[in-house]
Amino acid sequence: MDWNAMAAPWLRVEAETDAAHAPVRKALMAKAALRVGQSVLDIGPGAGVSLLDAADAVGPTGHVTGIEIAPPFAARAKSRVPANVEVCIGNAADYPFDSSGFDAAISLFGVMFFADPVAAFEHIRSVCKPGAALTFACWGPPEDNPWFGMPSRVAAEVFGPGPAFDPDAPGPMALGNKDKINRILSAAGWVVDIDTKALHLTPNGSPDDVGALQMTIGAAAMRMRIAKEAGTLDESHRDAVRTGLIAGFSEMVEGGDVRVPAVVHVVRAVA
Ligand SMILES: C[S@@+](CC[C@H](N)C(=O)[O-])C[C@H]1O[C@@H](n2cnc3c(N)ncnc32)[C@H](O)[C@@H]1O
Repeated sequence: MDWNAMAAPWLRVEAETDAAHAPVRKALMAKAALRVGQSVLDIGPGAGVSLLDAADAVGPTGHVTGIEIAPPFAARAKSRVPANVEVCIGNAADYPFDSSGFDAAISLFGVMFFADPVAAFEHIRSVCKPGAALTFACWGPPEDNPWFGMPSRVAAEVFGPGPAFDPDAPGPMALGNKDKINRILSAAGWVVDIDTKALHLTPNGSPDDVGALQMTIGAAAMRMRIAKEAGTLDESHRDAVRTGLIAGFSEMVEGGDVRVPAVVHVVRAVA
């Protein structure tokens, strides 16, 4: 995935995405149980919201290192973190960290994109102290996550079927299967414990607002971008996608708010 190209639209909807994913972040941080004074690695921090949580948890005597592959995300993250957080630019799969070993590692939706996941998780283990815990959140099965599935269906109605889902390709749903997570992490030398949680994402605003977010990032936005690059996107496509997204999110309103059912894996692995 070209995270450099994806950074600009993501950063336009940073606050909206952070709000939508807040329950997952909370579950991640609860499971990670970081402690004051720890040295923590955050993998793929994007715009940096989890770096702030980690900095809070370890306090001024602790240290947080973010490893982010896309410079525009790293720049945004650097702009909002306290002094005991550093953000390195590079690939977490092989980055030569200047550290005597992290006490813990976390990741919010940042570990599903490795070309060779076993090698990447082995490398991450090698830069953690023995007994350190890696805690990460990743999306569960695609069929349980309408945050992806609904916009993808809307786009297919407008543009025709998209590429078939390849569960082995790096991407947001690459670790949807629990057995696969177990296999990969065990092969990389970790001892694995997985909580699969059904929860609701909490985007702010009306179905129109959440539709606007998904016009910017996500499966429908990606199909629109591809059509635009091919010179085939016109206003009627945009209108049809917008209308479909608003209709989809209108069906997910509970008590006046859009609440999107989701299934995530919160994984704790010990080095
Ligand atoms: C889905 S986003 C999640 C961002 C952030 N953690 C959040 O939840 O808002 C995935 C992030 O991981 C970063 N990323 C992807 N592959 C990476 C890798 N191999 N090494 C470091 N960062 C990576 C991307 O640039 C992006 O910022």
